[in-house]
Formats: sequence, C-alpha cells, structure tokens
Amino acid sequence: MKKMNRREFFGASALTLSSLLVSSPFVLAEPPKDKLRIALVGCGGRGSFLTTFFPNIPNAELVALCDADSARLAETCKKVPDAKNAGSDMRAVFDDPDVDAVMIATCNHWHVLAAIWAMQAGKNVYLEKPVCLNFCEGEQLVAAAKKYGKLIQIGTQMRSDPVHHPEAKRFLHEEKALGKIKSVRVSRFFARNAIGKRATPLVPPETVDFNMWLGPAPETPIYRNSLHYDWHWDWRTGNGETGNWGAHLLDDCRNDVFFDQIGAPKRVMSVGARIGYDDAGDSPNEFAIFFDTGVIPVVFCISNLPDKANPKTAGACAGPTSGYTVFCEGGRYEKHWGGAVAFDENGEQIREFTATAEHIGPGPHIQNFVDCVLQNAPEKLTAPLKVGIDTATWYNGANTSFRLGEPYSKKDALDLVDDEETFATALDDIEKHLDAQGLKMNADTFRASRFLEYDGTAGIKGEYADAAKKLLTIDYREPFVVPTFN
Ligand SMILES: NC(=O)c1ccc[n+]([C@@H]2O[C@H](COP(=O)([O-])OP(=O)(O)OC[C@H]3O[C@@H](n4cnc5c(N)ncnc54)[C@H](O)[C@@H]3O)[C@@H](O)[C@H]2O)c1
Repeated sequence: MKKMNRREFFGASALTLSSLLVSSPFVLAEPPKDKLRIALVGCGGRGSFLTTFFPNIPNAELVALCDADSARLAETCKKVPDAKNAGSDMRAVFDDPDVDAVMIATCNHWHVLAAIWAMQAGKNVYLEKPVCLNFCEGEQLVAAAKKYGKLIQIGTQMRSDPVHHPEAKRFLHEEKALGKIKSVRVSRFFARNAIGKRATPLVPPETVDFNMWLGPAPETPIYRNSLHYDWHWDWRTGNGETGNWGAHLLDDCRNDVFFDQIGAPKRVMSVGARIGYDDAGDSPNEFAIFFDTGVIPVVFCISNLPDKANPKTAGACAGPTSGYTVFCEGGRYEKHWGGAVAFDENGEQIREFTATAEHIGPGPHIQNFVDCVLQNAPEKLTAPLKVGIDTATWYNGANTSFRLGEPYSKKDALDLVDDEETFATALDDIEKHLDAQGLKMNADTFRASRFLEYDGTAGIKGEYADAAKKLLTIDYREPFVVPTFN
C-alpha cells in the first residue's frame, strides 16, 4: 500500500462513508441458497454464546457442533437440540455435505489451520479473532483464501455496528468537529488473576480429546491450573491481551481514526512485563506500546494486574478503561464500550453518543456473514480477512517487540518515540498502579524494545528481522501442519 502523508490521509478520509467498504477480489463459486447451514467448531465460552443469536437469524441454521471437550460439547448441544453432535474432530464437520459454512471459535492456535482446512473442503468461514498467532501463519491464510476463493468474516463484531462507527467517522472526519487529529491513546485496563504455576504438568480433563485440543501446538508440558481459557496467556496457544481485547480496540481505532487506510504500522516499540504474580503465563500483564503509523501516533496501554485496594480494577487510566481517546487540536473524543463522549479544548463536554448492546453484539455481524455468503457478495463483508490481517499486524507486532525486549529504561524509551507526551502518560499510568502494589517499574522488572520495522503484513524487517523470524517460525506438531502456499 502507498504510504500517505497527513494531508493525503485527511483528503482520503473526507470520502463518503459508503465508498469506504473494503472490497475483496474473491467471487464465490456456488449458487446462492436461501438458508445457510452452519457448523460451530469450538463450544467454549464464546462458541456457546454465539449459538444464542441463531434464533434471530432467519436465513441461517446451526446444523452441527464440534468441540474437543465432550462435556462442553454436550452442554452446548442441549442449547441447540436440532444440531448434530459432530464429536471432537473438526474434519468430520468439514467433510459433511450438509454444512455450507463453519464458525471457528477454538483457541487461537487452531484458527489458521482450521480455517484453511474448512476452505479446502469448500466451506466459507466465520473466524473468531484474533486471526492468527503470528505474521507467518497469517500470510498462509491470506494465500489460502486467494487460492480457494472462499469468504472469511473475522469475528470483530463491532465492525457490523451500523451506528457508532459511522457516527465517529462523521464527527471526526466529515464534521471535523474537533479539528486536526494529533494522537490516539487506546486502553484496556481490566483485572485478571494469576493462572497458577503447578509443580507437575497439568493433566487434561478426561472429557478432552487432547490430541485434537493441542492440534498444531507443541506437545510440551503445561504448568497452569486450567486447560481452558487461560491458554490466552501462553505464547504457544494465545496472543495475550494484545490479541484478545487489542484485536477489538486496535481494530476500532484503525476503522474510526484511519478509515482502514493504514494497514500495518511503520514501526512498533513497547515496554512491558508480566509482574505481580508468579505464574505459568508468558504474555505481559502491564504493557505500553507505541505504534508509528507514519501519520498519527497511536499508544496502546494494557493493565491486567488487579489493584490491591480495589481488586476488581487494574488501576486508574487516563481516558476510557476499555476504548480509545482521539486527541485533536480542538479537544478530545473518548470512545468507550457503551458509546462515546466529545470534549472541547477546555474540557467541557460538547457531545455524547450512546451505543446499544444490540448494535455492538455479534447478532448483526453473523447476519452480515450469512447474507454475504447467500448473496454471493464478498465485497459487502464488514470484517473481511484483509481487515483482520491488517489489525493482526498491530497486536502481533507488539507481542514480537515485547519478546525481543531488553532491560527497560524510561529515559531511553521516551527518547525513542516522537510523541513523548502520550507515551509518557501510559508509562505513568502503569508506574502509579504498580507503586500502589509496592512494585517497581525498572530494568529488573520490565523490558523494552527499540523500534521494530514492519515489512507490510509480512513480518519485521531491519535490525530485528532475523530474531523476529526465528521467533515466529512455528514448528507445527504433525499432522497438524499449516500448509505453505507461497
Ligand atoms: N469476538 C469476541 O468478542 C470474542 C469474545 C470471546 C472470545 N472470542 C474468541 O473465541 C475463541 C474462543 O474463546 P473462548 O473464550 O470460548 O475460549 P475457551 O477456552 O472457553 O473455548 C475454546 C473451546 O475450543 C475448544 N477446542 C479446542 N481445540 C478444538 C478443536 N480442535 N476442535 C474443536 N474444539 C476445540 C475447547 O475445548 C474449548 O471448548 C478465542 O479465539 C477468542 O479470542 C471472541
């Protein structure tokens, strides 16, 4: 993609909203039907929740359910009694001629391989976020989608919100109500507990077909307490909070602030630690990331360590605890989970936008997927693979920078970035939060990277290229190997 300077960027952002739908080159081969038959792969917290939307989607039905854990599968089957119990091997679902499309809501390490297998079997795919564990497998998924010509909707459901993204774009870019945008701060401050550190490896529950659960991940011991959900914080199976909530919040930022005109950022650096609990997790629970986009700097700050005095929170945060603040010359726009508020340069509230659960929940998003498949209209998808892959470069690049970090120095970190104020506020939020727990943010506890330079959506180039490549090459467990297409 041609990089834009600030003036070109704002010229582009003045386009009408309808002209900005992301288009896809794929044309579906199958003739449209009037009802889409969908199989759900992964019936955990998310998959089970997704089933509740089907009664309100008249042109789709859930016809089969699959999960590596027979207990979870049986529970979800009770909620959808007309669907087949397809067992623990997703390949049975892919081979089923009564299935037109699949929804994949497994753990993240399965996302790319499951989506590729589904497309190879001729199915269209609704794929939960995050798209991929890293750049390398993301590239293979893009190549596979091109090869098989199938449609993929990424599970960033806020993309189908018909109200609030258009409102934000109109307010910021068409009305230009707060003037020129200077910077963006994205935040996710949410308390999470330690995941345990066992002396002996975890024995999976008897109801789990562990060969299928593990799939492409390496067969190395797991030392956390619970198999389910907490795989998020293990690099073998998850993307940390960056790819969990960051997959939504960074995507919202790319959508509203950048009109998707910025795919991968130019560079990323970060400061982070897993601190305050001694457990078997890998991903940082305190994390400040600086994205150099070439036009508007973006800082993403995560805090997961519970506050001692108020353990339901993860410390105080400048701006929304789950959302973003757009700093403009004439004020600021704060987007949070339930809506948005705009303030003028004196801090006076000048506008309020209210969101509804109906708009931001998965219902409209699944409906959009179903309609696009049935109408053979991939260009109308609200979260096509391209959008998901672009956002994945943000959170996966941030994770790579953390993993390549060195002992932290606040001065060096701030000297590096070209928007010291926004980044310093994020570092201060973390520092104050840790101080209150008696913890220090220093070279012994935190690591910081220099800037990693993006090679578009393909990975990292420049001084970190070799180290990043080594880190991102997954030795897939046979026979669960992500095929190579390019
Ligand atoms: N879009 C959203 O807002 C949203 C919200 C929550 C979760 N998610 C995503 O949904 C996915 C699942 O998250 P979760 O919270 O339900 O996790 P979870 O651990 O509760 O559930 C994952 C399920 O996948 C099953 N599974 C693992 N390997 C499988 C396989 N080979 N075949 C079939 N089933 C398999 C597990 O047994 C488990 O039941 C994650 O990727 C997560 O990021 C998205």
